[in-house]
Parts: sequence; structure tokens; C-alpha cells
Amino acid sequence: MDIRLLRSSDIPLIQHANLENLPENYFLKYYLYHALSWPQLSYVAVDVSRPPKTPYDYPKIVGYVLAKMEEEPADGVQHGHITSLSVMRTHRRLGIAEKLMRQSQQAMVETFGGHYVSLHVRVSNKAAIHLYRDTLGFKTEKTESKYYADGEDAFCMKLELDFIREQLREEEDEGKDKKKKALKEGEEGEGEDVDEGEAVGDVGRDPAKGSKADQKIKVKVGRGLGVGELIEKDESKH
Ligand code: ACO
Repeated sequence: MDIRLLRSSDIPLIQHANLENLPENYFLKYYLYHALSWPQLSYVAVDVSRPPKTPYDYPKIVGYVLAKMEEEPADGVQHGHITSLSVMRTHRRLGIAEKLMRQSQQAMVETFGGHYVSLHVRVSNKAAIHLYRDTLGFKTEKTESKYYADGEDAFCMKLELDFIREQLREEEDEGKDKKKKALKEGEEGEGEDVDEGEAVGDVGRDPAKGSKADQKIKVKVGRGLGVGELIEKDESKH
């Protein structure tokens, strides 16, 4: 399974998934508005076990999360909102919705500095309430009476995102520590014997390590080397 960012070309597919899975449906332009305004926040789950065979085949999208940042937050606090989430029946209880939600939540903090994420869910939607409350840690803020078109009430839920900010800070500090350690080790290593590979020929070879360690070779120098022979002879004398 591949969890990746929503692309504009995926929009008809997630609209189809939404129509299959939820009674709250939207115009195509509403999806486009999300994808163009907050491209970092919406994700899709793609079944890559059956990749498209031709360039004209669509990817098999089995889940999506459509999210946005609240444009004019009533409380003045920058926060995200989950507009819609669904997973195809064939692929439920595999942890896909949880992953989609966590990706989007992280992007809300990383990209937009969001402080919390909010959403509405039908009071009768047990599976989703379990996911939000028990798995992800959302709290119910209030119940909005007759929120849905058919008259059903909605739980208005909220999750503080400070824990993600904390995780990101820890990861950043860890990264900095690792970098410092590597730099320090590099500096310390500068004065040490660094192995620069095998010595070429006999030059630079440690005589104690070499196979000819204690062989003493007699080297002829000067005339003994025959330099005299190379001096031009004055043939005129002969
Ligand atoms: N019954 C009870 N708890 C459930 C159920 C269920 N049927 N499904 C999921 N959960 C809870 C569990 O706590 C589960 O953890 P566990 O498997 O360790 O017990 C947790 O959610 C994570 O489950 P996932 O496998 O990640 O959830 P899944 O991928 O199956 O998707 C979803 C859950 C999105 C609710 C799916 O059932 C679905 O698409 N339903 C129809 C559409 C829908 O209701 N969407 C949410 C509307 S609200 C909104 O869009 C803001």
C-alpha cells in the first residue's frame, strides 16, 4: 500500500470513493479547492499490488483523506480541519485510515504550524468515532444538533497537535546531535593515521610490514652505478 499526496488527477477517483462510502458528497470543484489551496494536507492510499498496465489506466485508490486549514478560525488559533475521510470496504481494518489521518496531521503542523485539528462525525458512526477517539486521541468538544442534511447530530471533535510539534523538535535535535558528533569525530580523526589505501610500489611502504622487511639490499652509487660509463668519452685522444 502506498500512502501519497493527493494529485489533481486523483480527484475523480476520490469523488467516486466518497460517493461509495459516505452520504456527504461534494462538487468536483470543492475537491479541487482543497488540492490547490492546501496541497500538503490531503492524501490517498493506493493499492500498488495491482499497478496500472497502460498509461491510460487509473491507479487503484482505496482510501483518501481530504483536509484543509481553517481560513478564518473563530478562536483566532491556526488549525486544520478534516473535511472527509473514507476507505473502501474491501480494504478496511488494515490501518489505512489511521495512517492517512496521521500523515495529514503531521503536515498541518509542519507546513502550516497548526495547533489542533477539528472534524465533525455522525453520532451514529461507531467505526469512525472509535478511530478518532480511541486510536488517534480526539476529544468530543460538543454536539451540534441537526448538523447533517438528514437531521442527524454531529460530534464536533478536536485533537491538540502539540505532541507532533514535540516529536518534530526531538527529531530535529537528534539530527543536530548526530551531525555534531559526526563533525567532532571527523575533526578528531584528522590527526590520526588515516588509511589511504595500499602504498604504490616500495615507496611509502612500512618496511616492518613488507615481505622484504629485513632484507638489506646493496645499492651501487656513483661510479659503482656505472655513471662513469655515461660520461661522454673524449675520443680525440685515441
Ligand atoms: N468498528 C470499531 N472500530 C473501528 C472500526 C469498526 N468497524 N473500524 C475502524 N475502527 C477503529 C479501531 O479503533 C481501529 O483500530 P484497531 O484496528 O487497532 O482496532 C482504528 O479505527 C483504525 O482502523 P483503520 O484500519 O485505520 O480504519 P479503516 O481503514 O478501516 O477506516 C473508516 C475507518 C474510515 C471509518 C472506514 O470504516 C470508512 O471508510 N467508513 C465509511 C466512511 C466514514 O465513516 N468516514 C468517516 C466519516 S467522518 C469524516 O469524514 C470527518
